[in-house]
Amino acid sequence: MYKVAVIGWGNVGYHLSLELSRQGIQTFVVCRNYHRKTNASGAEKNLHLVNSIAELPNDIETVFLTVKDDQIAAAATKLPEKMVQNACVSHSSGVLPANHLKGVVPNYGIFYPLNSFSRDQDFNWAGVPVFIESGQERVSRFLHKVAEEAGARPVKNDDLIREHLHLAAVFANNFTNHLMALVSDMLKKRGIPFDYLHPLIQTTVEKVLRMDPAKAQTGPAIRGDKATLQKHLSNLEDEDLKTLYRQLSRSIQKLSTDESDKEL
Ligand SMILES: NC(=O)c1ccc[n+]([C@@H]2O[C@H](COP(=O)([O-])OP(=O)(O)OC[C@H]3O[C@@H](n4cnc5c(N)ncnc54)[C@H](OP(=O)(O)O)[C@@H]3O)[C@@H](O)[C@H]2O)c1
Repeated sequence: MYKVAVIGWGNVGYHLSLELSRQGIQTFVVCRNYHRKTNASGAEKNLHLVNSIAELPNDIETVFLTVKDDQIAAAATKLPEKMVQNACVSHSSGVLPANHLKGVVPNYGIFYPLNSFSRDQDFNWAGVPVFIESGQERVSRFLHKVAEEAGARPVKNDDLIREHLHLAAVFANNFTNHLMALVSDMLKKRGIPFDYLHPLIQTTVEKVLRMDPAKAQTGPAIRGDKATLQKHLSNLEDEDLKTLYRQLSRSIQKLSTDESDKEL
């Protein structure tokens, strides 16, 4: 049976290890202080949870390093010599090159799923692009199969495309999510439930999946409703939020003007 190790039981490591184990792959997880975080239950019971790299068997065939970007190389140097001679060591970073571990381990690769993982939220792999590369053909095939069996979309890695997509993902997910966190906080302070916005948020996502996002834009900035813009600004007490409101409104107007110019 194929044996793998997942180093780091955070957002990605948690969901990846559960999926590997669901596929019947013998999965060892190095999870510092796992007793503190959780008592293994349900699907986690099929994982081999260990506290340190020293507890891993030597015949691991693929190592998934799912630690933070700036800890990847350091974690790779801690792997035992016998393991790195036999196993492919892959990272899951969106920005680091596929050969980030060149010179650190002989066989390296990448397994980067382009999505947002949260440990406490079920993860749906369906259609998720997974950028894959390994110097070993056998390991490449294995990683593709893992992605396929998860229902994801394996993609041959291209560092430049992945880097641009990672930047785009920061805007599409991280910044959008941050705006939701800000409005949730703003409403909470006024005692207004955030769930009044749920249907609007749903519509926003459904529209951009169906049509050109620039054409889906509505609101006072694109209409040029100056009095409404001024009223919103006067309702905001926080100077940083006023700045953010002005910058985003200007960006909406600029894109709209650029789009109209293109159509002329
Ligand atoms: N989160 C996402 O949505 C996402 C999506 C795609 C790709 N990625 C990539 O996936 C990687 C992991 O991201 P993440 O969000 O899952 O990070 P994370 O939630 O911070 O998890 C990292 C985990 O690694 C553990 N760790 C660090 N050094 C370790 C070591 N030497 N031995 C064992 N465990 C160690 C940490 O344990 P402690 O808590 O004890 O420090 C933590 O549990 C990053 O390269 C990231 O760019 C993330």
